Amino acid sequence: MSFNPHARLASLMLIAALTAAAPSHGREKPAEPSPAALHEQLTRISQDPAKLPAAVQRGQKDASVCRHCHGAGGNSVLPEVPNLASQNAGYLLEQMNKFVLGQRKSSAFMEGMIKALTPEERINIALFLSRQPVAPKPAGAHSVAGKNLYAKLCVSCHGGTGTGTHTIPRLAGQQATYLEDSLKRYRSGAGERIDPRMAAYTRNLKDADIQALAAYLSTLQP
Ligand code: HEC
Ligand code: HEC
Repeated sequence: MSFNPHARLASLMLIAALTAAAPSHGREKPAEPSPAALHEQLTRISQDPAKLPAAVQRGQKDASVCRHCHGAGGNSVLPEVPNLASQNAGYLLEQMNKFVLGQRKSSAFMEGMIKALTPEERINIALFLSRQPVAPKPAGAHSVAGKNLYAKLCVSCHGGTGTGTHTIPRLAGQQATYLEDSLKRYRSGAGERIDPRMAAYTRNLKDADIQALAAYLSTLQP
């Protein structure tokens, strides 16, 4: 039987939907804290050498269900599923908050998966994943067109090494299919991913530009 990543993702999505729908025994859901309060909490823990190691360790446990799709240590082996390893902690927390608040929509039950976590679990997971190494990838087709577009349009925010900042995502080594999907979603403005900056920077990209950027970024190894 040949390996079909799409069929595999579909069956994992079914498991995820069932997991997310499972009743959380006796856990009364408290009001959702503001994103700003959660970001403050993340920063406080990151700067506290007494609390950080325990939070990272709890994050590893809290993220065990995520491994089915995002891979061990956040290194995805499925084309449509993003790598989360070494992704910036502030960005990870922001995206999880967006799924919870309905500001980001996914066809893969991510909303349900993240809503099943407590805000503390989101913070722990962000701290854990941001500290996992990216598995080296075999060198792919190098895209000079992608490199030039990146230098012209993207470098000011995502940085020369493609590693972003605390709240701007790392793109280096990301899955090519996922990069293409995400860029097309910002460009279409259909509401799956909404960000005014990314909308502005993708508006004039052609499909071939997006393909070139994804090819370049997915093989970028800082
Ligand atoms: C059934 C497969 C599956 C499982 C299980 C899963 N994810 Fe995802 N995740 C996805 C897919 C597919 C996407 C891309 C969704 C999109 O962009 O629409 C995604 C996107 C994300 C993103 C956004 C990443 C980015 O670069 O913007 C985060 C953060 C995330 N997942 C965290 C988690 C966490 C934490 C868990 C475990 C609690 C988890 N996921 C479990 C499939 C999964
Ligand atoms: C003005 C700053 C800025 C510029 C310039 C910019 N980006 Fe972004 N980018 C962001 C921000 C902020 C986000 C997170 C948006 C969100 O919450 O969805 C992001 C998100 C992304 C994502 C989603 C990553 C993920 O893990 O899901 C991709 C892919 C991306 N940018 C690629 C690019 C490319 C390619 C270019 C150049 C054509 C570019 N960006 C230019 C600020 C920028």
